[in-house]
Amino acid sequence: DLPTRVRIHEVGARDGLQNEKATVPTVIKAEFIRRLAGAGLTTIEATSFVHPKWVPQLADAEQLFPVVADLPVALPVLVPNERGLDRALALGARRVAVFASATESFAKANLNRTVDEALAMFEPVVTRAKADAVHVRGYLSMCFGDPWEGGVPIPQVVRVCRALLDMGCDELSLGDTIGVATPGHVVALLAALDEAGIPPATLAVHFHDTYGQALANTLAALQQGVTTIDASAGGLGGCPYAKSATGNLATEDLVWMLRGLGIDTGIDLGRLVATSTWMAAHLGRPSPSRTVRALSHE
Ligand code: HMG
Ligand code: MG
Repeated sequence: DLPTRVRIHEVGARDGLQNEKATVPTVIKAEFIRRLAGAGLTTIEATSFVHPKWVPQLADAEQLFPVVADLPVALPVLVPNERGLDRALALGARRVAVFASATESFAKANLNRTVDEALAMFEPVVTRAKADAVHVRGYLSMCFGDPWEGGVPIPQVVRVCRALLDMGCDELSLGDTIGVATPGHVVALLAALDEAGIPPATLAVHFHDTYGQALANTLAALQQGVTTIDASAGGLGGCPYAKSATGNLATEDLVWMLRGLGIDTGIDLGRLVATSTWMAAHLGRPSPSRTVRALSHE
């Protein structure tokens, strides 16, 4: 059975842009977010309040967030620690995301912490956010495979998911950071989580398309009852701290599939394609999304 409605969590402005070498001007980022909202996206991850040396592209978070804050959409932001939370709350952010790892290698590379040290770092962030009625998403990276450690055992993923939920996260996003997941693995992980008392309704899925499996994995997750799907306009993206990660599932590819399945998203695909084509021109290379290429007339 498939859901009748799906919520798309757009990550293009954050996951999509964080890996770009050349600095994208703040005004272009703001225009990107404005156009995404205009195309009908209602949850648009805006930026990250991380250390500017770790992700230089998003060092303008203080300048960007206030410029888009008036949009009538949810604008979640990433915060790795209390310093990040302070910065986000000072600007009025109402949705934040912490980002854990299922593997030690990536926890070290991405957060300079062990898995448990990172969880300890998030604990006061989540507690303080919840006390302020701020919505908290917990990302979990490397849920399927890790570039240093190979395949990731399912119990390892379940353990960190449990810890994030016990901390108070409202929602979890299961990240296939390097895009190695396949549908059978997705079904197995979702089944194990369900058995551990973590139902699909609590979950989002976050697929990268390195091996071309993102859409197939998404369909598998929808069939298991997941209704929140992360995607990136035009398929932008990657992770600066995970070698071999390519772009996320393209929002256009997702919308095209959902449309065919009769699942409404309220998104104007034409306007979304125009937005990604505009951004691709700015970045100087074509969008990798097959749907963008098929529908754009340039
Ligand atoms: P660290 O070097 O261990 O930092 O980095 P620290 O805690 O030792 O602090 C050192 C200095 O940094 C201090 O300044 C802090 O104030 C400052 P000093 O006292 O030396 O002058 N500092 C900050 N400044 C601004 N904002 C902050 C902040 N925190 C500390 N928030 C840290 C630890 C977590 C900060 C660092 O590792 C970091 O920023 N990492 C972010 C990495 C990142 O953003 N990665 C990409 C997002 S994750 C992803 O893409 C995966 C996802 O898409 C899902 C998937 O696909 O799997 C979500
Ligand atoms: Mg990602």
